[in-house]
Amino acid sequence: MKLEEIDTLTGTAASEAAVAVDLAGLEEVRIRYLGRNGRINDVMEALKAAPRETKKDFGQAANRFKQQIQAAIEERKAALESSAGPAGSMVDTSLPGAWRGGGKLHPITLLIQRATSIFRSMGFTVAEGPDLEDEFHNFDALNTPANHPSRDPSDTFYLDGGLLLRTHTSPVQIRYMETQQPPVRIIAPGRCYRRDTMDATHSANFHQIEGLYVDRDVSLANLKGDLEYFVRKLMNLEDVRIRMRPHFFPFTEPSVEVDYSCHVCQGKGCRVCKHSGWIEIGGAGMVDPNVFQACGYDPEQVTGYAFGMGVERMAMILFGIPDIRLLYENHVRFLQQF
Ligand code: DAH
Repeated sequence: MKLEEIDTLTGTAASEAAVAVDLAGLEEVRIRYLGRNGRINDVMEALKAAPRETKKDFGQAANRFKQQIQAAIEERKAALESSAGPAGSMVDTSLPGAWRGGGKLHPITLLIQRATSIFRSMGFTVAEGPDLEDEFHNFDALNTPANHPSRDPSDTFYLDGGLLLRTHTSPVQIRYMETQQPPVRIIAPGRCYRRDTMDATHSANFHQIEGLYVDRDVSLANLKGDLEYFVRKLMNLEDVRIRMRPHFFPFTEPSVEVDYSCHVCQGKGCRVCKHSGWIEIGGAGMVDPNVFQACGYDPEQVTGYAFGMGVERMAMILFGIPDIRLLYENHVRFLQQF
């Protein structure tokens, strides 16, 4: 082998390394030139056979051969590994894309959709109202006294210009009755805002589902029966009982808090219902005559029931979610479970 031939071979090998399409191809290049039976043997033989005067030149050429090919292989290897994924192959644009898993609905969305479809089947339609409310719809028309603690700026987010972030979905009742005549049968799912400190069960931004049924002769018994039917469908359980505990809300009279018999232990008492046998689903009651009057309805002609349920609470119970914050952090591994 002549001196120039060594340098030519060095160049050829380096360019073969530079265009290797994958790590296996690159390894073949290494074996072909630097391997035990590779062309390096020819180079070393030429060095051995070189006359004394040119030995030094052959020695340097042999070094260039080893070093340059090795360097070209290292460089290509780094490029293949960084740009072409673990297999070290170049991108084949004719292959179908890698499946990264489909999206899932958020548990809050799931619960609202499920609840909505049950109430729809019961003859309710969906109503909406603005998140930015005024005091009239959020408090006054709902018969909330001027000194009621829920109006306090430490509980409610007030904005410049007299608006506030609605603290419940109840103002949707008012907006609906202002523009529609009875009979009314609506639910109103939506966001609510309160100045609450976040912990495992509280969030400053949460969701409620409001319900309103107004007609002649609507009674508390209708409320009980309808909520019982709703919980049966939601929990997919035949045997669900409802109980009502007296409570107070400014916009209903009488007012109640509604519990259903625990879907896990059927009322016997377990961890989910904190050994009481009952789980609360929300507040409710018979629409206060003052509320009807504020909307232009005649309380002598119609009666109605209303209820408000916390969506996060229901989602946590239904899906066994231990901390409300999980619902807002949106970790994919959490969301993929639903
Ligand atoms: N607005 C109430 C709350 O946020 C929930 C509620 C209670 C709504 C009774 C109602 C109702 O419509 O009748 O706590």
